[in-house]
Amino acid sequence: MTRRLYLVGAVILTAGILFGYDQGVISGALRGIESDFDLGTTMVEVITSFVTLGALVGALVAGVLADRIGRRPAVLIAGVLFIVGAIVEAAAPGATVLTIGRLIVGFAVGVASVAAPLYAAEMAPSRLRGTFVSTYQFGITFGIFVAYLVDEWLQSGSEWRLMLGLSAVAGVVLIVLLLPLRDTPRWYLKAGRPDDAAAELERIHPGDSEERFRDLQASLADEPMEATWGEVFSPRWRRPLMIGLGLAVFQQVTGINAIIYYADKIFAAAGFSSPADQTAATTWAIGAVNVLATLIAIAFVDRLGRKPLLIAGLIGMATSLTVVGISFLYIDGKVEAGASTAANHPNLAGDAGIVTLVALVVYIASFAFSLGPIVWTMINEIYPRSVRGRAVSVATAANWFSAWVVSQFFLSLVDAVGESGTFFLFAVLCVVCLAWIVKKVPETKGRTLEEIEQMWIDGDGGGPGAGVREGRADGWEQAGSGSS
Ligand code: BGC
Repeated sequence: MTRRLYLVGAVILTAGILFGYDQGVISGALRGIESDFDLGTTMVEVITSFVTLGALVGALVAGVLADRIGRRPAVLIAGVLFIVGAIVEAAAPGATVLTIGRLIVGFAVGVASVAAPLYAAEMAPSRLRGTFVSTYQFGITFGIFVAYLVDEWLQSGSEWRLMLGLSAVAGVVLIVLLLPLRDTPRWYLKAGRPDDAAAELERIHPGDSEERFRDLQASLADEPMEATWGEVFSPRWRRPLMIGLGLAVFQQVTGINAIIYYADKIFAAAGFSSPADQTAATTWAIGAVNVLATLIAIAFVDRLGRKPLLIAGLIGMATSLTVVGISFLYIDGKVEAGASTAANHPNLAGDAGIVTLVALVVYIASFAFSLGPIVWTMINEIYPRSVRGRAVSVATAANWFSAWVVSQFFLSLVDAVGESGTFFLFAVLCVVCLAWIVKKVPETKGRTLEEIEQMWIDGDGGGPGAGVREGRADGWEQAGSGSS
């Protein structure tokens, strides 16, 4: 791997950290904001959720932006906006300005969540593509973990300006990393800049860049510069569109952010009585495990493939959520084990608390090596070249929308059907997702982006090994187009 590719890896990692930090930090900052500005519930909800809404809009705009001005400038713009938004938040004199800051930051996170993985997916050689894009997920989990740590250090919440302002650092790092880099060879060629494409290929693959250039040229020869929205939704590409949307939505409705956002509350309900115990459980059992298990995906996504990891992860998620649901039945005293009531066995609720903790660790680990990284990887590799920018936007926006729905309604759902009912519902959705993946989602490991595109045209459904070409398979070569 060349130095350049390491830099691209650092860009995607930083974009992930920016996303994750912002996702994780708000719960700790809220206490101070609430008391400084004397806010009611609605305003607290707005301040929390407007980042997600901003991200939804950012994700939709980002596809067109990344197609028009390039992948790298789109990430650069996200970095600049992110710094602006973080400063506005940190200096906000009141709730209105703070909300505007949240929207700007959200918009930036949304743009980065589309443009950065797209940039990495197009830069990476296909044998490393999964690893590259999974690095994004590693960044997200690391950002969440750092945010939990910062929340723990500044526990009183009065330092909320510092908590929010600190996120500007990630924006600065992102810009500095991008300065020496250029756009993807694929984008240059599409933009009618063959010299830049050739020069960039030589930097990434010194030695055999000429052959790669010819391959890339052949593969892009008949491609329109920018497909219309009509083409994104055309029946021809319905299958990849549905797969991308399905993965994006299932990643959220199987409960991850309910647990990321409300972990403290869940641990409180499970019997961790002091706030310090709850925060520690959240930081280490959720935050740290999330980071570590993501490494499993990075190591195996290109070796074992996407589907085996997804299937194993979903089995782990469904099982652990069921266990959490059952232990909440005990915690709430709804189940009495024969004659052994919670009164006869005072430890029963405490034991159930520990079981909940262990089950949540299993859940987070299972998510982190499967749906977490692989959804982002697949969204960025399954779309045909002509519609890739916009289709990735649509799928990413669907992901943000589902994240917003789950985080907005989780507490109400718990009020309506209880903790156990809520976790059983997430478990059922994991099973539905599992069945859908087994039936509908093809394996993309080791295929070039062009081979994946051909797979939709051939309708080969991607049975095991179908069309797979291992070995020297790089992101921009067309199968069988080696001749000039
Ligand atoms: C999801 C986020 C989630 C994170 C948790 C990501 O893949 O898109 O919504 O918070 O994983 O690690």
